Amino acid sequence: MASLSRREVEYGLPWSWTTNRLGRFIRLASTNAYIAEIDGQFAGFSIASIGESRAHLVLLAVEKKCRNQGVGRQLLEWQVLAAQTAALTDMSLEVRATNSDAQRFYAAANFQKIRVLPQYYSGVEDAIRLRLYPIRVSNANVRKNSAAP
Ligand SMILES: CC(C)(COP(=O)(O)OP(=O)(O)OC[C@H]1O[C@@H](n2cnc3c(N)ncnc32)[C@H](O)[C@@H]1OP(=O)(O)O)[C@@H](O)C(=O)NCCC(=O)NCCS
Repeated sequence: MASLSRREVEYGLPWSWTTNRLGRFIRLASTNAYIAEIDGQFAGFSIASIGESRAHLVLLAVEKKCRNQGVGRQLLEWQVLAAQTAALTDMSLEVRATNSDAQRFYAAANFQKIRVLPQYYSGVEDAIRLRLYPIRVSNANVRKNSAAP
C-alpha cells in the first residue's frame, strides 16, 4: 500500500504515507480500510478516516495493470456504503490539481468540487477538495459488485 501510494499518489512529493505511518493509521479504530485483490494478487486499496458525522477519504489507488476494470469504483463504493451505514452526512477528500484522471473518476461518483487549497501538497501543488453530499451509494452498483465487505 505504501509503495503504491508513493508511486501513484505522492509522485514528485516527499513520501508522506510511509509503511510505518500507514501501519499506524490503519490500526486506528477511526480508520476504515479495504484492500482489493484480483486472483489473490494485491490490486489496490482505499483508506478513510471516520468522524462523528463525516468521513474523509485519505487514500485510494489501484495498480496500473488493474485499472479500468471497476476496482477503483468498488473500493470507493464500499467506503461510501460504510459511511452511509454509519449515518454520516458527507465524505470529503483532496486530490492533486494536476490529477485530472482521478478528478474524472470522482466526478463519475458524484463528488463535487468545493474549493482549491493552494500549495496544499508540501508547497509544491494545489489540492482540490471534493465532497460527496448527501452520502449515497448506487444500490445497483453494490449489487453488481457483489462481494460484501
Ligand atoms: C483514479 C483510479 C483510482 C481509478 O481506478 P480504476 O480502477 O481504474 O477506476 P474504475 O475502473 O473503477 O473506473 C470507475 C469510473 O471512473 C471513471 N474513470 C476512471 N478512470 C478514469 C480516467 N482515467 N479518466 C476518466 N474517467 C475515469 C470512469 O467513469 C469509470 O467508469 P466506466 O468504467 O463506467 O467508464 C486509478 O486511476 C488510480 O489508482 N490512479 C492513481 C492514484 C490516484 O490518483 N488516486 C486518487 C487520488 S488519492
